[in-house]
Amino acid sequence: MGTSEKIRIAFVGTGGRSWTHIERLAKFEDVALVGFMDVIPERAREKQAAAGQGKVYLDYLEMLDDAKPDALYVCVPPGEHGALEREAIARGIHLFLEKPMALDMATAEEFGQKIREKNLITCVGFQDRYLDIVEQCRTWIQGRDVGLVDGAWVGGVPGVPWYPKYATCGGQIVEQNIHIFDMVRNLFGEPAKVYCAGGRGIVKIQGFDLHDYSSAVITMQNGVVATLFTACYLGEGSTDFPNGLTIHCADCNIRYFLRNHIVFESRGETISRPWKGDWQTVMERTFIDALKSGDPSAIRSPYDDALKSLRLTLACNESLETGRVVEL
Ligand SMILES: NC(=O)c1ccc[n+]([C@@H]2O[C@H](COP(=O)([O-])OP(=O)(O)OC[C@H]3O[C@@H](n4cnc5c(N)ncnc54)[C@H](O)[C@@H]3O)[C@@H](O)[C@H]2O)c1
Repeated sequence: MGTSEKIRIAFVGTGGRSWTHIERLAKFEDVALVGFMDVIPERAREKQAAAGQGKVYLDYLEMLDDAKPDALYVCVPPGEHGALEREAIARGIHLFLEKPMALDMATAEEFGQKIREKNLITCVGFQDRYLDIVEQCRTWIQGRDVGLVDGAWVGGVPGVPWYPKYATCGGQIVEQNIHIFDMVRNLFGEPAKVYCAGGRGIVKIQGFDLHDYSSAVITMQNGVVATLFTACYLGEGSTDFPNGLTIHCADCNIRYFLRNHIVFESRGETISRPWKGDWQTVMERTFIDALKSGDPSAIRSPYDDALKSLRLTLACNESLETGRVVEL
């Protein structure tokens, strides 16, 4: 891609999440949004009209043939990954993928392999990695003794139709709390093993087959033990739970309040820092700049790295099912 040309971007899946990307990309002068496709065409029309550029396509292959994107944003529900990526990868189209990138490791590893072979530039939507306060946490952690980490993503049931079933969603750990599992990897390296216990019976939605709650204990290769709560059974009357991570250091606590602020607490000192800037714009800009330069090194969650967070969360599902510790 030459530096003077606009980067051509197409979207498959133009529901709620896609707009976060579209509204930012539409403001970049070096980006052309060339195609929008959704199995509910009205959604593609809505996003195209709001972006004020590009074309709506009723057929995915026709979009790839006609719009000739340099990169494709894949924002479909978790259970819809597969044929879409296979086609794009075969054509050498670079990919921005929403997490989770697949619901089984065989598919995800197949894509990882093909992406490597084709030398494609990829970015997976782990937005928290672009927050300035996460980098501040990393600085605070450096040189400190950390034993325990605890964290949570506790809330209600998201209002998307594919959420209630493992087959279409992957479960709350894989679909939602994967962000915090990824943050543990981002700050503490790779996991060695995981055990996960969970339960059901509180959420009363017809056909709901996910766990309502679970607790995962992850032993990291460096010895840190992280316990992460995941729950979607909070209903009316519950107060907002402070989701995020607490890092228990020998001489202080460091707390990451999900996409909001961080706190450093030690005897006699409390420092609180809110986030600054729009980290999601930073994520889009990083991806576009990588496409322009051909250098992906600034992308914080390329496919190969994101695979490891997917593997960890799918291992939690395995542990929930078997009741056993899963070695990674
Ligand atoms: N990174 C983040 O922070 C973040 C936040 C929210 C959602 N997400 C992820 O983004 C993905 C989409 O979530 P959402 O909230 O936008 O869901 P959504 O249901 O609002 O949107 C998904 C869209 O994909 C369309 N679709 C389904 N199958 C398709 C197919 N085969 N081809 C084309 N279009 C298809 C649907 O009609 C729908 O419009 C999910 O994987 C979700 O986990 C990520």
